[in-house]
Amino acid sequence: MRTYKIGYLIGSLAKGSINRKLAQALIKLAPSTLEFKEISFKDLPLYSYDYDDDFPQVARDFKEAIKSSDGILFVTPEYNRSIPGGLKNAIDWASRPYGTNAFSRKPTAVIGASPGAIGTAVAQQNLRSVLSFCNAPQMNAPEAYIQFKPGMINDDDDVTVESTRDFLRTYMQEYHDFVARVLTVLPNDV
Ligand code: FNR
Repeated sequence: MRTYKIGYLIGSLAKGSINRKLAQALIKLAPSTLEFKEISFKDLPLYSYDYDDDFPQVARDFKEAIKSSDGILFVTPEYNRSIPGGLKNAIDWASRPYGTNAFSRKPTAVIGASPGAIGTAVAQQNLRSVLSFCNAPQMNAPEAYIQFKPGMINDDDDVTVESTRDFLRTYMQEYHDFVARVLTVLPNDV
């Protein structure tokens, strides 16, 4: 069976990020045919099109990491009812210069955790509209709005709540199937 390389972006830069914790749990629950690599954006400067003629190496490396992935998984918090500025900045870098958008045709999925009851729902909708403009196919369903509660993921990155664990396992299987479907009709090399 084919293996897929999944790059994942964590929207938070915080050391104790609950979304990083969620990402680590998701990786443990994912099918073994998905290989994961974090794509960090913390060292990117703030984007301006003044850089378009001569992208800094850190931005070239960031774009290349996205391009060389079979799919991209976003695990992000909600900040002020949208995505964190650092994540938006990273997406702007990857989408430019015009005509070299690294997200084009890249199968994506969006998930996030918050202590709040709506579990990043608004941020996810914002991110989905950004990804639409970037021509990135998105897994529509299942959606996953995770209300993070202390102890929900233990020190070994295992989800302690059985129903949540089953749901997240299904989510990752569905993402696998979505990536496989997209790459069947849109192979990486076209
Ligand atoms: C938040 N938080 C938050 N939560 C939410 O559900 N909706 C929101 O709009 C916001 N807004 C917001 C803005 C800013 C600037 C901060 C720092 C936080 C709370 C947030 O969900 C909580 O801090 C999470 O722990 C953030 O996820 P990470 O960074 O721990 O992964």
